[in-house]
Amino acid sequence: MQKSINFALVGHMFMGRAHSHALNDVTMFMKDLGIRPVLKTICGVGAGLEDTRERFHWEKSETDWHKVVTDPEIDVVSIAVPGFLHKEIAVEAARNGKHILSEKPLARNYEEAYEMYEAARDNHVLNMVNFNYRRIPAVALAKQLIEEGQLGQIVSYKGFYQQDWALFGAPMSWRYKSEMVGKGPLEMGIHITDMARWLVGEIDEVVSVMKTVVKERQTADGSKEAVTNDDNTVWLARFKDGFMGMFEASRAHMGRKNFQWFEINGTKGSLRFELERMNELNVYLSNDCEDRRGFRNIIVTEEMHQYMKNWWPAGHMLGWEHTVLHQYYEFLKAFEEGSMPSPSFEDGMKAQKVLDAVVKSAEENRWVSVDEIGR
Ligand SMILES: NC(=O)c1ccc[n+]([C@@H]2O[C@H](COP(=O)([O-])OP(=O)(O)OC[C@H]3O[C@@H](n4cnc5c(N)ncnc54)[C@H](O)[C@@H]3O)[C@@H](O)[C@H]2O)c1
Repeated sequence: MQKSINFALVGHMFMGRAHSHALNDVTMFMKDLGIRPVLKTICGVGAGLEDTRERFHWEKSETDWHKVVTDPEIDVVSIAVPGFLHKEIAVEAARNGKHILSEKPLARNYEEAYEMYEAARDNHVLNMVNFNYRRIPAVALAKQLIEEGQLGQIVSYKGFYQQDWALFGAPMSWRYKSEMVGKGPLEMGIHITDMARWLVGEIDEVVSVMKTVVKERQTADGSKEAVTNDDNTVWLARFKDGFMGMFEASRAHMGRKNFQWFEINGTKGSLRFELERMNELNVYLSNDCEDRRGFRNIIVTEEMHQYMKNWWPAGHMLGWEHTVLHQYYEFLKAFEEGSMPSPSFEDGMKAQKVLDAVVKSAEENRWVSVDEIGR
């Protein structure tokens, strides 16, 4: 008999639906789980809450998150709301002994992220940040190849995340306000920062430039309001291990939809990944036979690839929603084992520290050491 664990989710729209889908399907496919999530309460404001509740089989809905984080019936609170609410909800949830899975970026800046980390640590609750792109089988294979030393010594890391939705005249929303979501390249830059930290290690210092391409947006009453965060940020990094990195996070690259890309070059091999072709990994190994060396394209859907034995026969591709489902699988497994899930709030906080340095660098027009940012 499987044990069960009661979930509440704050947020019912884009990521709210992705979390709800993952919670519904995770035990259908991940057969080794000995624990079953129960979808108790979905919390949100605005249209569509009842629709999400009904479609995704939540037992009840709620509009006040305070009631959710104090509800004795709830074991885990998942957070899928804009960044300005993450800290308040997470700290309150931790104080009430709830385990937490929060969306990225953990908060609006490093200080807030640190408070979340501290609250979770001091209240001994399990905590996870949804860096879901770690959970792609092709990315897991990239990590395995690096850990096996197949690339040799790392020489260069490049991480880009480009989309184009900021160019289509959307009205003002939380996504365009630094007071709601933080300055700089947080929303997308945090994913590529975490990916780099996870795959090749810590960043020592950065230098950056930021630009707001669309400077004003229309508000509900028809007036114009200034956009207070950037659309495009480019930065260079020196990693602690001495190699260099190049990053770009942009929501203003026409034609790019969900183009997350990394390339890692080492003394013995290189690899390349694109999120829009997420079942594939491009690998070059210099110890291949000389007459057939070249980038090979591996379709990462074989039974031995991470998570794949739970899914379909080879070549029957996974999609974006599986990244969130795999994250819940990792969370539930950690819960079952009584260990801290990964990536935890500590990872979220450390990635945020790097991006605070990126913002500081653009504002002060100089290289900034990550250690300059707070405690
Ligand atoms: N991991 C990923 O791949 C990924 C992708 C997109 C967004 N995100 C993150 O997910 C979070 C949510 O983004 P989204 O795109 O789903 O936003 P969204 O605008 O689609 O949804 C926001 C949600 O917040 C809820 N909300 C707002 N104020 C609230 C309040 N006071 N009380 C309760 N609920 C409230 C709304 O009901 C809504 O459901 C953000 O932190 C964002 O950065 C993550």
